[in-house]
Amino acid sequence: MHKRKNLSSSLFLLTLVGIILLSSCSKKEDAFANRKVSFNSDWSFHLNDSIKDKDTIGASTTWRTLDVPHDWSIEGQFDEKSPGGYGGGSLNGGLGWYKKTFKVAAADSSKVTSITFDGVYKDSEVWVNGHYLGKRPNGYIGFQYEMTPYLNYGDKENEIIVKVDNSKQPNSRWYSGSGIYRNVWIETTDKLHVAQWGTYVTTPKVTAEKASVSFETTIQNKYTVTKKAIVTTTIFKNDTQVTSVTQDITIQPNTNLVVNQASDVETPVLWSVEAPELYTAVTEISIDEQVVDQYKTNFGIRDFKFDVDKGFILNGKQVKIKGVCLHHDLGPLGSAINTRAIERQLEIMKEMGVNGIRTSHNPPATELLELCDKMGFIVMDEAFDMWKIAKTKYDYANDWDKWHEKDLVDQLRRDRNHASVFIWSIGNEIPDQWSESGAKTAIELADLTRKYDKTRPITAGMNPPVNMNIDDVTLQFEQANVQFNAIAKSGALDIIGYNYAHQTYEHHKKNFPNVPFIATETTSGLQTRGYYDAVSDTIKKWPVRWDLKFTEGNPGNTVSAYDQVQTPWGSTHEATWKIIKKHDFLSGMFIWTGFDYIGEPTPYEWPSVSSYFGIVDLAGIPKDVYYMYQSEWTDKTVLHIFPHWNWKAGQTVDVWAYYNKADEVELFLNGKSVGVRSKKGDDLHVMWRIPFQAGTLKAVSRKNGKTVLEKEIKTAGNPANLKLTADRSTIKADGNDLSFVIVDILDAKDILAPNANNEINFELKGNGKIVGVCSGDPVSHESYKGSKHTALNGKCLVVVQSGKKSGRLELTAKSKGLKQATIVITAE
Ligand code: GAL
Repeated sequence: MHKRKNLSSSLFLLTLVGIILLSSCSKKEDAFANRKVSFNSDWSFHLNDSIKDKDTIGASTTWRTLDVPHDWSIEGQFDEKSPGGYGGGSLNGGLGWYKKTFKVAAADSSKVTSITFDGVYKDSEVWVNGHYLGKRPNGYIGFQYEMTPYLNYGDKENEIIVKVDNSKQPNSRWYSGSGIYRNVWIETTDKLHVAQWGTYVTTPKVTAEKASVSFETTIQNKYTVTKKAIVTTTIFKNDTQVTSVTQDITIQPNTNLVVNQASDVETPVLWSVEAPELYTAVTEISIDEQVVDQYKTNFGIRDFKFDVDKGFILNGKQVKIKGVCLHHDLGPLGSAINTRAIERQLEIMKEMGVNGIRTSHNPPATELLELCDKMGFIVMDEAFDMWKIAKTKYDYANDWDKWHEKDLVDQLRRDRNHASVFIWSIGNEIPDQWSESGAKTAIELADLTRKYDKTRPITAGMNPPVNMNIDDVTLQFEQANVQFNAIAKSGALDIIGYNYAHQTYEHHKKNFPNVPFIATETTSGLQTRGYYDAVSDTIKKWPVRWDLKFTEGNPGNTVSAYDQVQTPWGSTHEATWKIIKKHDFLSGMFIWTGFDYIGEPTPYEWPSVSSYFGIVDLAGIPKDVYYMYQSEWTDKTVLHIFPHWNWKAGQTVDVWAYYNKADEVELFLNGKSVGVRSKKGDDLHVMWRIPFQAGTLKAVSRKNGKTVLEKEIKTAGNPANLKLTADRSTIKADGNDLSFVIVDILDAKDILAPNANNEINFELKGNGKIVGVCSGDPVSHESYKGSKHTALNGKCLVVVQSGKKSGRLELTAKSKGLKQATIVITAE
């Protein structure tokens, strides 16, 4: 508790107040430092069935200590017979127990203490000191339990026990991970406090001159007496006070009170994809001049709409949504969340020109949304992959009736302040979409969504909203019987969301004249990074269907990385983008997927264990088509040629180039021109078909005859050297931060050996550890958690995590017959 400062909003005094505030702010930080503290460290963990219920916990001695976020599935071996199947990545679930002892200061006995789990996969049950706090089936939503009545204060220990049951398989179409895989917090507040997710900040009117900002704050009174208090909401921009509003309240015992306040922000700094400017609202509750609770909410001021003709308009400007779908796993780290790992994924996406993220198909980690707020992404925040009708035997459909309302409301309340969230998706490819009951559910979910947030449009990813089986795509919707896409016809949606069906996009306005368009999911191209069937004509168009045995593809389940292989329901990367690009009313697209993810391999069979859909592989290394998007979606000057230049003498090879800002590209083989190519019409690449000859392939892009860029690829000799490149060579010594180090296998002249698949061993000296190894190979069954890994097509990734002490981390890579390499990472 601390004395409330009277915050003046007078313009004349603004600077002075700013200075006072800065100092008062840091005092406030201290005063409320324990409002929310991490509860991640030093848990004990026990996997599998020897403990049948909470009361037999004491009998087991096989506990190990670990920090959460933790994913036990990623620690296991790939298992062809895994009950989760290929969809789940052939990694096993199971039943896990976590326990932790802790003390609570005697001074906190007059307060309210809660435990918050940001996400536990799945079916978690929690006890504190033997008292059952509750169960939460949904593996993706955060939840909180109040522990106050059951706690010991002072020197006496408390014990918390968490049961996590991911044993009923299959329950997911993709790799879910298992365990307490997101952050855990202890929250301690006065009995009069802002409720969980208790603020809702909106900006009903935004102009360049002024934004009106509304605050709806839910205050909870856990006292047994009526309380009189003052609620002050102050807006800050970069630690400087902008405006403040105060209100007296009287709140009955054991009730919640919703307080509505409003402020104006003059000449607001608007949030945009290029300049993601944020404001902070600080809510303070004071009793008798003492501040008893303080709660911070970041928000953005922006104005947007989806328009039937003009697509997505942000702050008055048309913005094409160039998005990707992402599952939640972080490659070799599994599903255990790590903020830096998410940030790296988003950085790689941003470099490619991506400005949108779809959180397929579940509530994302809060840290992802915070990063999207700060980095400038347009998020489509999705709730469900199924409603009443299951997609896998033990999935969420089993919990639907009892839980969907709470889960959705919690997601809305949790996420509705994020500046980056622009669209709610109430579902993905919902099997109920074909029935009248699906329409009813869509209306129920949309009504519920609007009750908690009227500021964002609602969609669903429908597969597809129009009937692909009717020949004349322009007439589909009219001719469709009532069975056909009840959700699209229900009127529940503000935007019609198309999964695939790019052939129908141009007819959208005929089918849905008054409802804007979004391509919620597109493409599903398939590629193995760095692998090429050299001549396009011979590329095997596999798989024919995702659930059929793979009979006509490449041995070893490789897929050529030319943009020519796709699922039957999808398209090449170029095909869908060409259409989306053409029309303003097509507001944008979310490509399936930005990154490869564990599980759902296509073909759906062993030995493949991870997906081929990513524009970037599981290790975070771009596939070639990344540069097609970069040439289209960014201002960077791009010239990218592929494949590699190690073939058999005389073999015919197709060379592709992605480029921009030039009229033509000339290709030279060992100094001799093999032709000039220019993109015609809506082409997005050029190609040369030439006989292979060892040496140097050089491309030169030109504009008006002047060279823009040059790129060379050389034939490599045998692997000889290793090279290590860290994404960051200085990291924080906080026990959490990561350095992602890419290993290149080079020949004696330091040319990348594009087919090298040597096994690499890693050693790390210093206060840190290796937390992941990965080559991006979808058929590799080596553990992501070891200290050795086999490279894929000349490359591999090793992830180094800092310890809590600063100092040098020395990483060495060794491989039989190759010269070793060392890199130093500084933790500080
Ligand atoms: C979609 C589905 C995604 C993924 C994708 C693979 O139909 O929504 O979750 O399965 O297919 O192409």
